[in-house]
Amino acid sequence: MKFSAIETALLDWSGDALAVGLFEDSVELTGELAQLDEKLAGTLQELIDETEFTGKANSSAVTRVGGGSAIRKIILVGLGKADSAKSDHWRRAAAAAARKAKQQKCQTLGLSFPLLNDDPAATAEAIVEGIELAMHKDTRFKSESDDKGGLERVELLGLAGQEGAIDRALKICSGVILARELVAAPANAITPITLAQEAEAIANEYGLDIEILEKEDCEKLGMGAFLGVAQASDLPPKFVHLTYKPAGTPRKKLAIVGKGLTFDSGGLNLKPYGSGIETMKIDMGGAAATFGAAKAIAQLQPDVEVHFISAITENMISGRAMRPGDILTASNGKTIEVNNTDAEGRLTLADALVFADKLGVDAIVDLATLTGACVIALGEEISGLWSPEDDLADAILSAAESAGEKFWRMPLEEGYFEGMKSLVADMKNTGPRPGGAITAALFLKEFVKETPWVHLDIAGSVWTDKDNGYNSKGATGHGVRTLVNWVLA
Ligand code: BES
Ligand code: MN
Ligand code: ZN
Repeated sequence: MKFSAIETALLDWSGDALAVGLFEDSVELTGELAQLDEKLAGTLQELIDETEFTGKANSSAVTRVGGGSAIRKIILVGLGKADSAKSDHWRRAAAAAARKAKQQKCQTLGLSFPLLNDDPAATAEAIVEGIELAMHKDTRFKSESDDKGGLERVELLGLAGQEGAIDRALKICSGVILARELVAAPANAITPITLAQEAEAIANEYGLDIEILEKEDCEKLGMGAFLGVAQASDLPPKFVHLTYKPAGTPRKKLAIVGKGLTFDSGGLNLKPYGSGIETMKIDMGGAAATFGAAKAIAQLQPDVEVHFISAITENMISGRAMRPGDILTASNGKTIEVNNTDAEGRLTLADALVFADKLGVDAIVDLATLTGACVIALGEEISGLWSPEDDLADAILSAAESAGEKFWRMPLEEGYFEGMKSLVADMKNTGPRPGGAITAALFLKEFVKETPWVHLDIAGSVWTDKDNGYNSKGATGHGVRTLVNWVLA
């Protein structure tokens, strides 16, 4: 699929499908659109009337254009109200146009959208992201691809000169798509070994520094919490530290830490039937977003130093497995009574956060498919955000807003830590069921001493069972675009 930004006026464009973006409640055809309608013998007005098209966000309509015309199909997509313009409305409208065009067996698509906030670059970026992400289909594990045909050429009308914005959007999308593919790959394809190799491949391709700590290295650093989780697996744990360093002096230094459980069986407090054990390949969604962001950032080359970290392993059962009740010592010396081996993510993150905290960065963000409780609280589209720092929380929320990813700030209710008190160790790894996503965040907080920190629980949003906007059923790559926006800000 090739994107280009062209000067061509609406009336002069030729190709398979022409998509027009319209604001809600202002679908009267004036100016160029009136001329186009005239040229198409009233087809546009007829389409609006027959489908009662009002321009609502997420609405679309398509019709065939009568014989002899330079275009075959005309597509209308709604952008919502003009006075509440959001980049995500442009992404979703562009995605809807691309889906419709593909259904109609079109190979070329022209889009004529009004500007988003008078900003041609933002407009082009949103359109390209919407289409590139909507058209991504993962057929790696099918013996035969069922993804036939599709768009070959996409032209952004009236956005000539925005090649830079297109290029930026495609770099960001390459990171989102990597994250999706890492999450979608089954746990027999993405193992601790192969996930570490994926990180190595990014380092080699884009010239990032990489350090992979083996089990013995982790032992030397006293990472007893991470290694406790890893001890039942037949596969070796891998602690990955990728670093992007800009050419000059960095404007700021940041660390991104992702939960990297390539499979979560629950350990000996095994996941019961109905708890989704068969979906637990997604439990490295935090690491996937981290490495996806690394891929995008390595190409975008901002003047910011970024560390990408994941303590990668599987949570398995065997004669060597961590027992419920075992006490582990993390690399900051704190002791943890493991009352539930299924609360393993926070154990791996504990040592990863201690490691990140020692890097002297200005902020740490962790992303983790950490708790089912967060999914119960916020549903499958919204991720939870916890931070003791208002400025950092706001910075992430604003990065997420322009990315079109949803996060909701949740409380770090200190009093709830009571529930994690242990008779024998410094803390237990789980508290009572109520407030389970909050106690998980409070647990993580014990392992960050020096650095402003924010925790993102992405358990619900890394996967979707619906085709929705530019996300199709399956892995979403959630988090990557928020991270990229945050680093670039
Ligand atoms: N990986 C799971 C959380 C999860 C659940 C992710 C559903 C995606 C969808 C995590 O390791 C886990 O098992 N959490 C437990 C914690 C509990 C034992 C305190 C949970 O949420 O049930
Ligand atoms: Mn678990
Ligand atoms: Zn888990």
